[in-house]
Amino acid sequence: MSTRHHLQPISAVILLLVLAISPSPSHSSTHNHEQVNLESNPISRFQNYLRINTAHPTPDYAAAVNYLTAFAATIPTLQTRTLYLTTPDKPLLLITWPGSNPSLPAVLFNSHLDSVPAEPSKWLHDPFAAHLSDDGKIYARGAQDDKCTGMQYLEAIKELKSNLDYTPLRTLHISYVPDEEVGGLDGMAKFVESKEFKELNIGFVLDEGQASVNDEFRVFYADRSPWKLVIKSAGVPGHGSRMYDNSAMENLMKSVEVIMKFRENSFDLVKAGQAANSEVISVNPVYMKAGIPSPSGFVMNMQPSEVEAGFDIRLPPTAEPEFMMRRIAEEWAPAWRNMTYQITEQGSLRDYLGRPLLTATNESNPWWSVFKQAITAAGGKLAKPEILSSTTDARFMRQMGIPTLGFSPMKNTPILLHDHNELLESSVYLEGIKVYEHIIRLLSSFDGASVSEGR
Ligand SMILES: *[C@@H]1O[C@H](CO)[C@@H](O)[C@H](O)[C@H]1NC(C)=O
Ligand SMILES: *[C@@H]1O[C@H](CO)[C@@H](O)[C@H](O)[C@H]1NC(C)=O
Ligand SMILES: [Zn+2]
Repeated sequence: MSTRHHLQPISAVILLLVLAISPSPSHSSTHNHEQVNLESNPISRFQNYLRINTAHPTPDYAAAVNYLTAFAATIPTLQTRTLYLTTPDKPLLLITWPGSNPSLPAVLFNSHLDSVPAEPSKWLHDPFAAHLSDDGKIYARGAQDDKCTGMQYLEAIKELKSNLDYTPLRTLHISYVPDEEVGGLDGMAKFVESKEFKELNIGFVLDEGQASVNDEFRVFYADRSPWKLVIKSAGVPGHGSRMYDNSAMENLMKSVEVIMKFRENSFDLVKAGQAANSEVISVNPVYMKAGIPSPSGFVMNMQPSEVEAGFDIRLPPTAEPEFMMRRIAEEWAPAWRNMTYQITEQGSLRDYLGRPLLTATNESNPWWSVFKQAITAAGGKLAKPEILSSTTDARFMRQMGIPTLGFSPMKNTPILLHDHNELLESSVYLEGIKVYEHIIRLLSSFDGASVSEGR
Protein backbone atom coordinates (compact mmCIF):
# COMPACT_ATOMS: atom_id res chain seq x y z
CA MET A 1 0.00 0.00 0.00
CA SER A 2 1.28 3.45 -0.86
CA THR A 3 1.44 6.22 1.73
CA ARG A 4 1.73 8.88 -0.88
CA HIS A 5 -1.91 9.95 -0.67
CA HIS A 6 -1.44 10.98 2.94
CA LEU A 7 1.51 13.29 2.39
CA GLN A 8 1.10 17.01 2.74
CA PRO A 9 2.37 18.92 -0.30
CA ILE A 10 5.40 20.19 1.66
CA SER A 11 6.36 16.65 2.74
CA ALA A 12 6.02 15.52 -0.84
CA VAL A 13 8.54 18.14 -1.90
CA ILE A 14 10.97 17.03 0.80
CA LEU A 15 10.49 13.41 -0.19
CA LEU A 16 11.24 14.23 -3.80
CA LEU A 17 14.38 16.09 -2.72
CA VAL A 18 15.51 13.14 -0.63
CA LEU A 19 14.90 10.76 -3.51
CA ALA A 20 16.81 13.04 -5.85
CA ILE A 21 19.92 13.14 -3.68
CA SER A 22 19.89 9.52 -2.44
CA PRO A 23 21.91 6.96 -4.31
CA SER A 24 19.80 5.16 -6.87
CA PRO A 25 18.09 2.11 -5.41
CA SER A 26 18.87 0.10 -8.53
CA HIS A 27 20.59 -3.22 -7.94
CA SER A 28 24.05 -2.50 -9.27
CA SER A 29 24.77 0.84 -7.65
CA THR A 30 23.44 0.20 -4.19
CA HIS A 31 25.99 -0.18 -1.44
CA ASN A 32 23.50 -0.08 1.35
CA HIS A 33 21.95 -3.14 2.92
CA GLU A 34 18.53 -1.60 3.51
CA GLN A 35 18.12 -1.04 -0.20
CA VAL A 36 18.79 -4.60 -1.24
CA ASN A 37 15.69 -6.18 -2.66
CA LEU A 38 15.16 -9.51 -0.90
CA GLU A 39 11.99 -10.99 -2.22
CA SER A 40 10.37 -13.82 -0.44
CA ASN A 41 10.93 -16.57 -2.96
CA PRO A 42 14.13 -18.31 -4.04
CA ILE A 43 13.66 -17.71 -7.77
CA SER A 44 13.33 -13.95 -7.48
CA ARG A 45 16.25 -13.85 -5.04
CA PHE A 46 18.32 -15.78 -7.61
CA GLN A 47 17.20 -13.39 -10.36
CA ASN A 48 18.22 -10.40 -8.25
CA TYR A 49 21.69 -11.85 -7.72
CA LEU A 50 22.02 -12.53 -11.45
CA ARG A 51 21.08 -8.93 -12.22
CA ILE A 52 24.17 -7.67 -10.44
CA ASN A 53 26.68 -7.29 -13.24
CA THR A 54 29.88 -8.95 -12.11
CA ALA A 55 31.18 -9.62 -15.60
CA HIS A 56 34.75 -8.78 -16.46
CA PRO A 57 36.39 -6.42 -17.12
CA THR A 58 34.44 -4.29 -14.59
CA PRO A 59 32.75 -6.64 -12.12
CA ASP A 60 30.62 -4.88 -9.49
CA TYR A 61 31.87 -6.99 -6.60
CA ALA A 62 30.68 -4.53 -3.94
CA ALA A 63 27.04 -4.83 -5.02
CA ALA A 64 27.22 -8.62 -5.09
CA VAL A 65 28.79 -8.76 -1.63
CA ASN A 66 26.16 -6.36 -0.28
CA TYR A 67 23.38 -8.44 -1.67
CA LEU A 68 24.69 -11.71 -0.27
CA THR A 69 25.46 -10.09 3.08
CA ALA A 70 21.93 -8.76 3.31
CA PHE A 71 20.47 -12.15 2.47
CA ALA A 72 22.70 -13.91 5.02
CA ALA A 73 21.52 -11.41 7.63
CA THR A 74 17.99 -12.80 7.28
CA ILE A 75 19.17 -16.26 8.38
CA PRO A 76 19.69 -16.66 12.14
CA THR A 77 23.22 -17.43 13.44
CA LEU A 78 25.05 -16.82 10.16
CA GLN A 79 28.13 -14.63 10.54
CA THR A 80 29.57 -12.63 7.67
CA ARG A 81 33.02 -11.15 7.11
CA THR A 82 34.41 -9.33 4.12
CA LEU A 83 38.13 -9.80 3.52
CA TYR A 84 40.27 -7.57 1.33
CA LEU A 85 43.33 -9.63 0.46
CA THR A 86 44.48 -7.48 -2.45
CA THR A 87 42.82 -4.18 -3.38
CA PRO A 88 39.66 -2.56 -1.95
CA ASP A 89 37.78 -3.31 -5.16
CA LYS A 90 38.28 -7.07 -4.77
CA PRO A 91 36.32 -8.16 -1.70
CA LEU A 92 36.02 -11.77 -0.63
CA LEU A 93 32.90 -12.62 1.33
CA LEU A 94 33.06 -15.30 3.98
CA ILE A 95 29.86 -16.56 5.61
CA THR A 96 30.06 -18.87 8.60
CA TRP A 97 27.52 -21.17 10.18
CA PRO A 98 29.06 -22.18 13.49
CA GLY A 99 28.89 -25.86 14.37
CA SER A 100 28.27 -27.24 17.83
CA ASN A 101 31.78 -28.78 17.79
CA PRO A 102 34.06 -26.12 16.33
CA SER A 103 37.16 -28.23 17.01
CA LEU A 104 36.27 -30.57 14.11
CA PRO A 105 37.64 -29.65 10.66
CA ALA A 106 35.14 -27.39 8.89
CA VAL A 107 33.50 -27.79 5.49
CA LEU A 108 33.84 -25.03 2.89
CA PHE A 109 31.38 -24.31 0.07
CA ASN A 110 32.98 -22.07 -2.52
CA SER A 111 31.70 -20.07 -5.46
CA HIS A 112 33.06 -17.13 -7.40
CA LEU A 113 31.49 -13.69 -7.61
CA ASP A 114 32.64 -12.88 -11.13
CA SER A 115 31.55 -14.04 -14.55
CA VAL A 116 32.87 -13.84 -18.07
CA PRO A 117 31.48 -11.03 -20.25
CA ALA A 118 28.46 -11.46 -22.52
CA GLU A 119 27.60 -10.10 -25.97
CA PRO A 120 24.00 -8.89 -25.49
CA SER A 121 23.31 -8.71 -29.23
CA LYS A 122 23.83 -12.48 -29.51
CA TRP A 123 21.35 -13.28 -26.73
CA LEU A 124 17.58 -13.80 -26.86
CA HIS A 125 17.27 -11.73 -23.65
CA ASP A 126 19.48 -9.19 -21.93
CA PRO A 127 22.16 -11.28 -20.16
CA PHE A 128 21.86 -9.15 -17.02
CA ALA A 129 18.07 -8.97 -16.83
CA ALA A 130 17.65 -12.57 -15.60
CA HIS A 131 14.55 -12.97 -17.75
CA LEU A 132 12.28 -15.82 -16.68
CA SER A 133 10.61 -17.30 -19.74
CA ASP A 134 7.09 -18.75 -19.79
CA ASP A 135 8.56 -22.25 -19.81
CA GLY A 136 10.54 -21.57 -16.64
CA LYS A 137 14.02 -20.85 -18.02
CA ILE A 138 16.15 -18.16 -16.42
CA TYR A 139 18.45 -16.52 -18.97
CA ALA A 140 21.49 -14.84 -17.47
CA ARG A 141 25.25 -14.66 -17.54
CA GLY A 142 26.27 -16.60 -14.45
CA ALA A 143 23.08 -18.70 -14.29
CA GLN A 144 25.24 -21.86 -14.56
CA ASP A 145 28.70 -20.47 -13.84
CA ASP A 146 28.31 -20.15 -10.97
CA LYS A 147 25.83 -17.82 -9.31
CA CYS A 148 23.44 -20.76 -9.02
CA THR A 149 25.56 -22.61 -6.46
CA GLY A 150 26.40 -19.40 -4.59
CA MET A 151 22.72 -18.75 -3.91
CA GLN A 152 21.73 -22.41 -3.50
CA TYR A 153 24.17 -22.81 -0.59
CA LEU A 154 22.43 -19.99 1.27
CA GLU A 155 18.92 -21.10 0.33
CA ALA A 156 19.66 -24.60 1.62
CA ILE A 157 20.98 -23.21 4.89
CA LYS A 158 17.98 -20.93 5.19
CA GLU A 159 15.72 -23.94 4.81
CA LEU A 160 17.66 -26.02 7.34
CA LYS A 161 18.06 -23.23 9.88
CA SER A 162 14.99 -21.04 9.59
CA ASN A 163 12.46 -23.76 8.85
CA LEU A 164 13.88 -26.88 10.49
CA ASP A 165 16.06 -25.27 13.17
CA TYR A 166 18.90 -27.64 12.32
CA THR A 167 22.29 -27.09 13.97
CA PRO A 168 25.43 -28.43 12.32
CA LEU A 169 28.04 -30.40 14.24
CA ARG A 170 30.90 -29.12 12.11
CA THR A 171 31.25 -25.49 11.24
CA LEU A 172 30.32 -24.60 7.66
CA HIS A 173 31.88 -21.77 5.71
CA ILE A 174 30.74 -20.33 2.42
CA SER A 175 33.22 -18.28 0.42
CA TYR A 176 32.47 -15.90 -2.44
CA VAL A 177 35.73 -15.11 -4.17
CA PRO A 178 36.64 -12.56 -6.84
CA ASP A 179 38.53 -13.12 -10.09
CA GLU A 180 38.09 -16.86 -10.70
CA GLU A 181 37.46 -16.18 -14.38
CA VAL A 182 40.76 -14.36 -14.75
CA GLY A 183 42.93 -17.00 -13.11
CA GLY A 184 42.15 -16.54 -9.42
CA LEU A 185 45.48 -14.97 -8.54
CA ASP A 186 43.84 -12.07 -6.69
CA GLY A 187 41.08 -14.34 -5.39
CA MET A 188 41.32 -17.93 -4.21
CA ALA A 189 45.11 -18.09 -4.67
CA LYS A 190 45.50 -15.29 -2.11
CA PHE A 191 42.80 -16.67 0.16
CA VAL A 192 44.37 -20.12 0.63
CA GLU A 193 47.65 -18.43 1.55
CA SER A 194 46.04 -16.15 4.14
CA LYS A 195 46.09 -16.61 7.89
CA GLU A 196 42.29 -16.21 7.85
CA PHE A 197 42.05 -19.34 5.70
CA LYS A 198 44.39 -21.36 7.92
CA GLU A 199 42.31 -20.40 10.95
CA LEU A 200 39.22 -21.91 9.34
CA ASN A 201 40.73 -25.42 9.60
CA ILE A 202 39.04 -26.65 6.43
CA GLY A 203 38.75 -30.42 6.06
CA PHE A 204 36.77 -30.66 2.83
CA VAL A 205 35.65 -28.32 0.04
CA LEU A 206 32.87 -28.31 -2.51
CA ASP A 207 33.46 -25.99 -5.46
CA GLU A 208 31.77 -25.51 -8.81
CA GLY A 209 31.18 -28.31 -11.29
CA GLN A 210 29.33 -28.41 -14.58
CA ALA A 211 25.89 -29.15 -15.95
CA SER A 212 24.99 -32.67 -16.99
CA VAL A 213 22.95 -33.28 -20.14
CA ASN A 214 21.46 -36.49 -18.75
CA ASP A 215 19.87 -37.71 -15.54
CA GLU A 216 23.13 -38.16 -13.58
CA PHE A 217 24.94 -35.48 -11.61
CA ARG A 218 28.56 -34.90 -12.59
CA VAL A 219 31.36 -34.62 -10.08
CA PHE A 220 34.97 -33.57 -10.69
CA TYR A 221 37.95 -34.78 -8.66
CA ALA A 222 40.72 -32.93 -10.50
CA ASP A 223 41.36 -30.15 -12.99
CA ARG A 224 43.78 -30.39 -15.85
CA SER A 225 46.74 -28.10 -15.39
CA PRO A 226 47.47 -25.52 -18.08
CA TRP A 227 50.95 -25.05 -19.50
CA LYS A 228 51.57 -22.29 -22.00
CA LEU A 229 54.48 -23.07 -24.31
CA VAL A 230 56.30 -20.72 -26.68
CA ILE A 231 58.89 -22.22 -29.00
CA LYS A 232 61.29 -20.19 -31.11
CA SER A 233 63.74 -21.07 -33.79
CA ALA A 234 66.57 -19.10 -35.34
CA GLY A 235 68.20 -19.80 -38.69
CA VAL A 236 70.07 -18.34 -41.56
CA PRO A 237 67.94 -15.91 -43.59
CA GLY A 238 67.99 -16.27 -47.31
CA HIS A 239 66.37 -15.52 -50.64
CA GLY A 240 62.94 -17.04 -51.05
CA SER A 241 64.14 -18.86 -54.13
CA ARG A 242 66.99 -20.75 -52.45
CA MET A 243 66.77 -24.23 -50.97
CA TYR A 244 69.13 -24.71 -48.09
CA ASP A 245 69.14 -26.59 -44.79
CA ASN A 246 68.13 -25.41 -41.33
CA SER A 247 66.22 -22.22 -42.01
CA ALA A 248 64.32 -20.91 -38.98
CA MET A 249 61.07 -21.84 -40.68
CA GLU A 250 62.18 -25.35 -41.56
CA ASN A 251 63.27 -26.01 -37.98
CA LEU A 252 60.01 -24.68 -36.56
CA MET A 253 57.92 -26.72 -38.99
CA LYS A 254 59.77 -29.89 -38.00
CA SER A 255 58.83 -29.22 -34.38
CA VAL A 256 55.25 -28.47 -35.31
CA GLU A 257 55.05 -31.84 -37.07
CA VAL A 258 56.35 -33.64 -33.99
CA ILE A 259 53.91 -31.79 -31.73
CA MET A 260 50.96 -32.40 -34.03
CA LYS A 261 51.82 -36.11 -34.11
CA PHE A 262 51.72 -36.15 -30.32
CA ARG A 263 48.37 -34.37 -30.46
CA GLU A 264 47.04 -36.94 -32.92
CA ASN A 265 48.04 -39.80 -30.61
CA SER A 266 46.20 -38.21 -27.67
CA PHE A 267 43.16 -37.48 -29.77
CA ASP A 268 43.10 -40.98 -31.32
CA LEU A 269 43.00 -42.43 -27.82
CA VAL A 270 39.93 -40.28 -27.11
CA LYS A 271 38.28 -41.14 -30.42
CA ALA A 272 38.84 -44.84 -29.75
CA GLY A 273 37.00 -44.45 -26.46
CA GLN A 274 40.10 -45.41 -24.44
CA ALA A 275 40.18 -42.15 -22.49
CA ALA A 276 38.03 -39.11 -21.84
CA ASN A 277 39.13 -35.81 -23.35
CA SER A 278 40.19 -34.57 -19.94
CA GLU A 279 42.26 -37.71 -19.19
CA VAL A 280 44.83 -37.15 -21.91
CA ILE A 281 47.45 -34.46 -22.44
CA SER A 282 46.01 -32.05 -24.98
CA VAL A 283 48.12 -29.69 -27.05
CA ASN A 284 46.80 -27.13 -29.49
CA PRO A 285 48.70 -24.59 -31.59
CA VAL A 286 47.32 -21.13 -30.75
CA TYR A 287 49.55 -18.74 -32.68
CA MET A 288 52.42 -18.49 -35.14
CA LYS A 289 54.60 -15.46 -35.50
CA ALA A 290 56.75 -15.49 -38.59
CA GLY A 291 57.54 -13.57 -41.75
CA ILE A 292 58.89 -10.16 -42.59
CA PRO A 293 56.09 -7.59 -42.71
CA SER A 294 55.62 -5.41 -45.78
CA PRO A 295 53.09 -2.62 -46.38
CA SER A 296 50.79 -5.06 -48.16
CA GLY A 297 51.27 -8.10 -45.90
CA PHE A 298 54.53 -10.03 -45.88
CA VAL A 299 57.71 -10.03 -47.93
CA MET A 300 57.34 -13.09 -50.12
CA ASN A 301 60.88 -13.61 -51.36
CA MET A 302 62.71 -13.75 -48.04
CA GLN A 303 63.07 -16.61 -45.58
CA PRO A 304 62.98 -15.12 -42.05
CA SER A 305 65.76 -15.57 -39.49
CA GLU A 306 63.48 -15.89 -36.44
CA VAL A 307 60.08 -17.51 -36.00
CA GLU A 308 57.94 -18.62 -33.10
CA ALA A 309 54.75 -20.48 -32.24
CA GLY A 310 52.59 -20.81 -29.15
CA PHE A 311 50.80 -23.87 -27.75
CA ASP A 312 48.11 -24.40 -25.14
CA ILE A 313 48.88 -27.63 -23.29
CA ARG A 314 46.63 -29.22 -20.63
CA LEU A 315 47.87 -32.02 -18.44
CA PRO A 316 45.84 -34.38 -16.27
CA PRO A 317 47.14 -34.83 -12.71
CA THR A 318 48.40 -38.30 -13.61
CA ALA A 319 50.91 -36.86 -16.12
CA GLU A 320 54.57 -36.81 -15.15
CA PRO A 321 55.81 -33.22 -15.24
CA GLU A 322 59.45 -34.32 -15.59
CA PHE A 323 58.67 -36.44 -18.67
CA MET A 324 56.82 -33.54 -20.21
CA MET A 325 59.72 -31.18 -19.59
CA ARG A 326 62.11 -33.67 -21.21
CA ARG A 327 59.82 -34.14 -24.19
CA ILE A 328 59.70 -30.39 -24.76
CA ALA A 329 63.45 -29.92 -24.37
CA GLU A 330 64.49 -32.95 -26.43
CA GLU A 331 61.78 -33.35 -29.05
CA TRP A 332 59.61 -30.26 -29.34
CA ALA A 333 62.22 -27.51 -29.15
CA PRO A 334 65.64 -29.18 -29.21
CA ALA A 335 68.63 -26.91 -28.87
CA TRP A 336 70.48 -28.95 -31.51
CA ARG A 337 67.86 -27.78 -33.99
CA ASN A 338 68.64 -24.22 -32.93
CA MET A 339 65.43 -23.89 -30.98
CA THR A 340 64.65 -22.33 -27.65
CA TYR A 341 61.46 -22.47 -25.61
CA GLN A 342 59.72 -20.79 -22.74
CA ILE A 343 56.93 -22.14 -20.58
CA THR A 344 55.16 -18.90 -19.78
CA GLU A 345 52.63 -20.53 -17.47
CA GLN A 346 53.16 -23.86 -15.77
CA GLY A 347 50.25 -25.09 -13.69
CA SER A 348 51.18 -27.44 -10.91
CA LEU A 349 50.50 -31.16 -11.16
CA ARG A 350 51.45 -31.95 -7.58
CA ASP A 351 50.26 -30.78 -4.18
CA TYR A 352 52.53 -29.32 -1.53
CA LEU A 353 53.57 -32.83 -0.49
CA GLY A 354 54.37 -33.91 -4.05
CA ARG A 355 51.20 -35.96 -4.49
CA PRO A 356 49.15 -35.86 -7.71
CA LEU A 357 46.76 -32.92 -7.62
CA LEU A 358 43.55 -34.91 -7.27
CA THR A 359 40.95 -35.85 -4.70
CA ALA A 360 40.46 -39.56 -4.13
CA THR A 361 37.00 -40.84 -5.05
CA ASN A 362 37.13 -44.12 -3.21
CA GLU A 363 36.88 -45.39 0.37
CA SER A 364 40.30 -43.95 1.20
CA ASN A 365 38.57 -40.56 1.32
CA PRO A 366 35.80 -40.60 3.96
CA TRP A 367 34.44 -37.28 2.69
CA TRP A 368 33.79 -38.93 -0.67
CA SER A 369 31.67 -41.60 0.96
CA VAL A 370 29.62 -39.03 2.84
CA PHE A 371 29.15 -36.93 -0.31
CA LYS A 372 28.00 -39.99 -2.24
CA GLN A 373 25.54 -40.93 0.50
CA ALA A 374 24.10 -37.42 0.41
CA ILE A 375 23.44 -37.63 -3.33
CA THR A 376 21.69 -40.96 -2.83
CA ALA A 377 19.69 -39.52 0.07
CA ALA A 378 18.61 -36.71 -2.25
CA GLY A 379 17.35 -39.31 -4.71
CA GLY A 380 20.10 -38.51 -7.19
CA LYS A 381 22.52 -40.56 -9.24
CA LEU A 382 26.20 -39.74 -9.69
CA ALA A 383 28.04 -40.20 -12.96
CA LYS A 384 31.57 -41.65 -12.96
CA PRO A 385 33.83 -39.01 -11.37
CA GLU A 386 35.64 -36.92 -13.97
CA ILE A 387 38.66 -34.74 -14.46
CA LEU A 388 37.63 -31.24 -15.55
CA SER A 389 39.10 -30.27 -18.94
CA SER A 390 39.77 -26.73 -17.85
CA THR A 391 40.65 -25.21 -14.48
CA THR A 392 38.78 -23.80 -11.50
CA ASP A 393 39.73 -22.42 -8.10
CA ALA A 394 39.55 -26.00 -6.77
CA ARG A 395 43.19 -26.47 -7.75
CA PHE A 396 44.31 -24.01 -5.08
CA MET A 397 42.64 -26.03 -2.32
CA ARG A 398 43.95 -29.33 -3.70
CA GLN A 399 47.39 -27.74 -3.78
CA MET A 400 47.06 -27.28 -0.01
CA GLY A 401 46.24 -30.99 0.30
CA ILE A 402 42.55 -30.37 1.05
CA PRO A 403 40.15 -32.83 -0.61
CA THR A 404 37.98 -30.83 -3.01
CA LEU A 405 35.19 -31.89 -5.34
CA GLY A 406 33.67 -29.87 -8.16
CA PHE A 407 29.91 -30.18 -8.15
CA SER A 408 26.98 -28.13 -9.46
CA PRO A 409 23.60 -29.86 -9.16
CA MET A 410 22.33 -29.30 -12.70
CA LYS A 411 21.08 -32.36 -14.55
CA ASN A 412 19.16 -32.61 -17.83
CA THR A 413 20.64 -29.21 -18.61
CA PRO A 414 22.58 -28.10 -21.70
CA ILE A 415 26.16 -27.06 -20.92
CA LEU A 416 26.11 -23.33 -21.53
CA LEU A 417 28.83 -21.87 -19.35
CA HIS A 418 30.61 -18.98 -21.10
CA ASP A 419 28.13 -19.42 -24.00
CA HIS A 420 25.45 -17.16 -25.42
CA ASN A 421 22.03 -17.63 -23.81
CA GLU A 422 23.38 -19.22 -20.65
CA LEU A 423 20.29 -20.42 -18.82
CA LEU A 424 19.01 -22.59 -16.03
CA GLU A 425 15.55 -24.08 -15.59
CA SER A 426 13.97 -22.81 -12.40
CA SER A 427 12.89 -26.36 -11.49
CA VAL A 428 16.52 -27.52 -11.78
CA TYR A 429 17.62 -24.61 -9.61
CA LEU A 430 15.04 -25.45 -6.93
CA GLU A 431 15.94 -29.14 -6.99
CA GLY A 432 19.58 -28.12 -6.49
CA ILE A 433 18.64 -26.40 -3.22
CA LYS A 434 17.15 -29.69 -2.00
CA VAL A 435 20.29 -31.56 -3.02
CA TYR A 436 22.44 -29.14 -1.03
CA GLU A 437 20.17 -29.56 1.99
CA HIS A 438 21.09 -33.26 2.01
CA ILE A 439 24.77 -32.56 1.35
CA ILE A 440 24.99 -29.94 4.08
CA ARG A 441 23.16 -32.11 6.58
CA LEU A 442 25.36 -35.16 6.03
CA LEU A 443 28.68 -33.36 5.72
CA SER A 444 28.05 -31.11 8.69
CA SER A 445 26.92 -33.96 10.94
CA PHE A 446 29.75 -36.30 9.85
CA ASP A 447 31.84 -37.11 12.92
CA GLY A 448 34.24 -39.62 11.32
CA ALA A 449 37.36 -40.17 13.37
CA SER A 450 39.48 -40.96 10.31
CA VAL A 451 38.88 -37.58 8.76
CA SER A 452 42.39 -36.27 9.08
CA GLU A 453 43.58 -39.21 6.97
CA GLY A 454 41.40 -38.01 4.12
CA ARG A 455 43.45 -34.85 3.78
C1 LIG B 1 72.33 -24.08 -35.91
O1 LIG B 1 72.99 -22.85 -36.02
C2 LIG B 1 74.34 -22.98 -36.35
C3 LIG B 1 74.97 -21.60 -36.31
O2 LIG B 1 74.24 -20.70 -37.08
C4 LIG B 1 74.47 -23.63 -37.74
O3 LIG B 1 75.81 -23.80 -38.08
C5 LIG B 1 73.76 -24.97 -37.71
O4 LIG B 1 73.76 -25.54 -38.98
C6 LIG B 1 72.36 -24.85 -37.22
N1 LIG B 1 71.78 -26.16 -37.06
C7 LIG B 1 70.48 -26.42 -37.28
C8 LIG B 1 70.04 -27.85 -37.09
O5 LIG B 1 69.72 -25.58 -37.60
C1 LIG C 1 41.95 -44.51 -3.99
O1 LIG C 1 42.24 -43.52 -4.95
C2 LIG C 1 43.55 -43.02 -4.88
C3 LIG C 1 43.67 -41.84 -5.84
O2 LIG C 1 43.19 -42.17 -7.11
C4 LIG C 1 44.54 -44.13 -5.18
O3 LIG C 1 45.86 -43.64 -5.12
C5 LIG C 1 44.34 -45.22 -4.16
O4 LIG C 1 45.18 -46.32 -4.49
C6 LIG C 1 42.90 -45.70 -4.12
N1 LIG C 1 42.71 -46.55 -2.94
C7 LIG C 1 41.94 -47.63 -2.95
C8 LIG C 1 41.81 -48.33 -1.66
O5 LIG C 1 41.38 -48.00 -3.96
ZN1 LIG D 1 32.94 -20.86 -12.77
